[in-house]
Amino acid sequence: MAAYLSRDTPHGVTPEQVWAANGSNEVMLQLLQAFGGPGRVALSFAPTYSMYPEYARDSVTEWVVGHRESDFALDLDHAHDLVKEKQPSVVLLPSPNNPTGTALPLDAVTTLCEAAAGNEQSGIVVVDEAYGEFRRAGTPSALELLPRHRNLVVSRTMSKAFALAGARVGYLAAAPEICDAIRVVRLPYHLSAVTQATALAALRHAPELLGKVDELRAERDRTVDWLRGRGLTVADTDANFALFGTFPDRHAVWQGLLDRGVLIRETGPDGWLRVSIGTREEMQAFQEALTQVMEEQS
Ligand SMILES: Cc1ncc(COP(=O)(O)O)c(C=O)c1O
Repeated sequence: MAAYLSRDTPHGVTPEQVWAANGSNEVMLQLLQAFGGPGRVALSFAPTYSMYPEYARDSVTEWVVGHRESDFALDLDHAHDLVKEKQPSVVLLPSPNNPTGTALPLDAVTTLCEAAAGNEQSGIVVVDEAYGEFRRAGTPSALELLPRHRNLVVSRTMSKAFALAGARVGYLAAAPEICDAIRVVRLPYHLSAVTQATALAALRHAPELLGKVDELRAERDRTVDWLRGRGLTVADTDANFALFGTFPDRHAVWQGLLDRGVLIRETGPDGWLRVSIGTREEMQAFQEALTQVMEEQS
C-alpha cells in the first residue's frame, strides 16, 4: 500500500505511515474513536459524505457542519473561522467530495491543518480521498502534504477505482504516531488474513483493476459537457459521478429516468441529482432517457 500511495507523492510513503482497515468507513470510525469522544467536536462542510455524522454519533463526538460556496467549493475563510471557533478534534474533508465531486486545492488543506494544529487542543485533518484515483489531470493528492503536517491524514479505499467494495479494504497514510493512536482503539486482529491476502492480490494486479479508470474519467468529462450543453448546471467533478440540476421537482426527474430503465441517485442538496459514470452505452441510455424526461416536463 505504501508503494502504491508513493506514486501520488514525490516524497513517498513508508509502511509505518500506513494503516488499513475494513473499508475506509472503518478507518474513519477508528479515527473518531481515537481522536473524538465526549466533549470533542468533529467538523465538516455540507454537502459532505452522509456517513460522517454516523461515525460522530457512534463515537459520542459532537457533530458540527459548516457550509460550502454555491458552486460547492470550500469557503476557506468560513472554514478557517469555524476551525478556530469550534476547536474540532477531527476535521473531515472528502476530496473529491461526495456527493458533489469537488476536489480541494492543497493550499486549503494546508490552511486548515495549520489552523487545527494551532488550536489549544490540536486537531487532526482527514482528507478522504475515496475517489482520489478519478481526479482530473493536474489535481494533486493531499499525500504531497504529509511531510509538512503531522496532523494530516489521507484516507483511501479499494471500493471505488479498484471496483472492490465487497473486499472491504480501506487505508490511510499519516504520521506513524497517528497510526499508533489507532492501534489503541482497533479490535484485535481486526483485518482478517483473507482480507489482507485479497488486498495484496489487488495491489499486485493494480494495472488491470484500475484499467477502467481512464475510460471512466473521459466518459465523466463527456457527460459533464453534455449536461452543460443541455443548459443544466453541473458541479465541477473529480469523481466517478456528476451532480447536476437544478430541478423544481427532482423526484419526478429521477422517477422518469427509472421508468426508462435508468437508475441514478436522488441525493445532494434540494433540486440536484447525482449520476454515476458507467460505460459509453450506459451513459448514452442515460442521455436519451434524460432528454425524453426533460422534454416531457417542459
Ligand atoms: C467520501 C467517501 N468516503 C468513504 C466511503 C466509504 O467507502 P468504503 O468503506 O467502502 O471504503 C465512501 C463510500 O461511498 C465515500 O463516498
